[in-house]
Amino acid sequence: METGKAILGRRAVRDYEDKPVPEEIIQKILKAGAMAPSAMGVHPYRFIVITDKVKIKELSGKVKDKIGILGFGARLAERAKIMEDVIFYGAPLLILIVAEKSDWAPTDCALAAQNMMLQAYDLGLGSCFIGFATMIKDDKETLRSLGMKDSQQLYCPLIFGYPKKWPAPKSQEAIVQKRLG
Ligand SMILES: Cc1cc2nc3c(=O)[nH]c(=O)nc-3n(C[C@H](O)[C@H](O)[C@H](O)COP(=O)(O)O)c2cc1C
Repeated sequence: METGKAILGRRAVRDYEDKPVPEEIIQKILKAGAMAPSAMGVHPYRFIVITDKVKIKELSGKVKDKIGILGFGARLAERAKIMEDVIFYGAPLLILIVAEKSDWAPTDCALAAQNMMLQAYDLGLGSCFIGFATMIKDDKETLRSLGMKDSQQLYCPLIFGYPKKWPAPKSQEAIVQKRLG
């Protein structure tokens, strides 16, 4: 797929088939992340791959507990009425991009994240950045159980999988008018 086509066609996917992502596809997504540019070529990130549905569900529960304290926003509350998992949307693959804290780590991780989501789209997979999941960033016990070191920070939680339905492409004209003036 042409890069431009992937950039314009990718959408956040929030409804997934109950179908695992093959290991070779996961490896391609990870490779795309590792190929992203990073400040001073440090590539500070590590990728934690979670495919265990039970684990993903558990994490979802922990994030929901945290959100519960702060209160669901209106949009999330609406989704929660119709969706079983309003955090990870039943995705079969969750990748946590983590890194030691540094000035550039959030940027480096975000660039890796975008590469991974575009690569996934090129391979026929949907994806979504799940910022809500960073709410468990201080739950050291849970993060340790996923293989994270206490010194690492959780920056970019991403879900991937085969969409039940692709969201419609966005209107490029409307976006250009709204965001570029
Ligand atoms: C930093 C960041 C955090 C996000 N967090 C969430 C989230 O927690 N849950 C969710 O459903 N979508 C989340 N999204 C997805 C955005 O809502 C989505 O990208 C945006 O609405 C634009 O839609 P598009 O990706 O289809 O262009 C996040 C996106 C970014 C970049």
